[in-house]
Amino acid sequence: MITIIGSGRVGTAAAMYITFQELDDVLLIDVVPGRPQGEALDLAHALSILGKSVKVYGSNDYKDMAGSDLVLVTAGFPRGPGMTREQLVEKNADVVRDIAKKVAEYAPKAPVIITTNPLDAMVYVFYKASKMPRNKVIGFSGVLDSGRMRYYIAKKLGVSPADVDAVVIGQHGEKMLPLPRLSRVAGLSLEKVLSKADIDEVVTDTIKAGAKIIELRGYSSSYGPGAGLMLMAKAIKKDEKKLFFASACLDGEYGLRDVCVNVPVILGRNGIEKVVELDLSPEERRLFEESVKAIRDNVAQVPPKYLE
Ligand code: 2OP
Repeated sequence: MITIIGSGRVGTAAAMYITFQELDDVLLIDVVPGRPQGEALDLAHALSILGKSVKVYGSNDYKDMAGSDLVLVTAGFPRGPGMTREQLVEKNADVVRDIAKKVAEYAPKAPVIITTNPLDAMVYVFYKASKMPRNKVIGFSGVLDSGRMRYYIAKKLGVSPADVDAVVIGQHGEKMLPLPRLSRVAGLSLEKVLSKADIDEVVTDTIKAGAKIIELRGYSSSYGPGAGLMLMAKAIKKDEKKLFFASACLDGEYGLRDVCVNVPVILGRNGIEKVVELDLSPEERRLFEESVKAIRDNVAQVPPKYLE
């Protein structure tokens, strides 16, 4: 069973993709009475209409996650129009710390994927508060960020996104680091197939994508995160050992410690099976360090009581 904590737009989108793929049964947990049960009932009807054989449940009790083999954390306050992700830090640290304690108590062996913003700081809070091994604590961001870059590249070139490999590392925020040199279209570096002006536009559109959705529809993304969560859940459930971009808590990789940041990782049954180290140019390395500094500055705003 896959437990999804938080039955807002991201949690329910993930539940939809996961159950439509018949990846596993899903349990939605939320603190609001009736909400996860209502979402589960609507989704159960959809599954019945589609003839799918997996089950979906709703609960307000964290105990029900016991025995889950994967947990997705989608709870927390979302970003509103004109807000940065970093502004949510204190409110959501409180939420994430509480959830970390519950997961450590009821599903301590399950890998956990965290989506709550500000992402990298919340992954760090979860890691510290849960005291779970770092391979089990995974931040959802890079799949969305690289998926968005892939979209903008494919659109510029008029090719299928399936032919594009987009590389984005660093903070899930304004200091996100799309890497055109390492991104490829049919084996060619982006620098060979797009002009400098077009690359700059792709990079800016990628960084601003989340804010753009909020500006247009008044609330933050959900289909993109839902789809990405399903792919990561599949890789873990089926032990695919597939490469994803995800926020990982580093312990020496990239010469960094005690910080969680988006980098390439291999996902399998144990969660993060390996952190992959990219060969960064001196300029890419400088920008990556700036990005890491932005994460550390944000973590410094977390009241210490939420890190225990
Ligand atoms: C996004 O980038 C909300 O952080 C989320 O859409």
